[in-house]
Amino acid sequence: MENIQGIKSVYLDDEKNIVVILDQTLLPREKVFLEVDKIEDLYEAIHSLRVRGAPAIGIAAAYGVYLFTKLVEAGDFESLYEAFKKNKDYIESSRPTAVNLSWALKRMENRLISEKDKKVDEIKLALLDEANQIREEDEAVCKAIGENALTLLKDGYGLLTHCNPGGIATAKYGTALAPIFLGLERGVNFKVFVDETRPLLQGARLTAWELHESGVDTTLICDNMAATVMNQGKVNAVLVGCDRVALNGDSANKIGTMPLAIVAKHFNIPFYVCAPISTIDISCKDENDIEIEIRNGDEITEKWYENRVAPKGVKTYNPCFDVTPNNLITAIITEKGIIYPPFHEGIKKLFEGDK
Ligand code: MRU
Repeated sequence: MENIQGIKSVYLDDEKNIVVILDQTLLPREKVFLEVDKIEDLYEAIHSLRVRGAPAIGIAAAYGVYLFTKLVEAGDFESLYEAFKKNKDYIESSRPTAVNLSWALKRMENRLISEKDKKVDEIKLALLDEANQIREEDEAVCKAIGENALTLLKDGYGLLTHCNPGGIATAKYGTALAPIFLGLERGVNFKVFVDETRPLLQGARLTAWELHESGVDTTLICDNMAATVMNQGKVNAVLVGCDRVALNGDSANKIGTMPLAIVAKHFNIPFYVCAPISTIDISCKDENDIEIEIRNGDEITEKWYENRVAPKGVKTYNPCFDVTPNNLITAIITEKGIIYPPFHEGIKKLFEGDK
């Protein structure tokens, strides 16, 4: 059995001037760590989902914007800030939906500005400190989400999850998988159904690997089997991660999440969204304000097949995320507590409390 929780999917080697990224496109067949030393390669790694999962993208962006700004020879704050902004905008354009990307970069920018009266070398060190804090905080945040989620679950529960909200999508523990990993440490065991998650198979390749290798009772199903296992009474709760939560609780997550929520409601099964507060974007009023990434159709027609399955030239439509409407969500589980409907009230309170 592999120590999955010991794997760091993103980290910085400051001496070698590289961001190290576990290439998630090759899992579970191969475990390859990429040594990223160019900003274009970081962009490519995020865009191609070599590093993926909302919090992990934020961590990669924070380390990247630090490293590629550190490497710029700037004589004063203004020229450093100019280089930083160029790097920030470029990294930010790599993927649109997961708000943690822009959240982490904004946090880095705020830190840079707050240090503006210091020497350039000191400002660079402050950026490193901020990026390290973003990584460290994420680990604590995920653990707290796991603790809060565990209060809603009972030993022996059947759970269903989608995509990969696991340790490699975060600093550690994951979001929706955090209660499962924490439970395991404490002798609280679950039977977990994992959707394969078409078209990029994050469930089959990543979640099934993380859970199975950790010794969790794991059953892989195709996406279109979820209703059947729910109807058979095998699922007590659905737990998913997310990429952006709007002020009203509408939650964007991997395509295929919304149908799970619809079916869960039909069978009266609680549907929980696990979200760090960094994933809540109060500038989005509702789902209409959330930009959904549209990816290349070859992910549907050929990417994971030895031979192309679809006729050449057929039209494709490949939205990467869907938005689950708030009325299908039982609760949003954050590190600061569990929010129940009406979500806009709970979310507002949470942000007011943060001031
Ligand atoms: O396209 P991906 O693989 O980056 O999508 C990720 C998800 O949708 C996850 O469910 C989400 O980021 C989980 S939060 C750890």
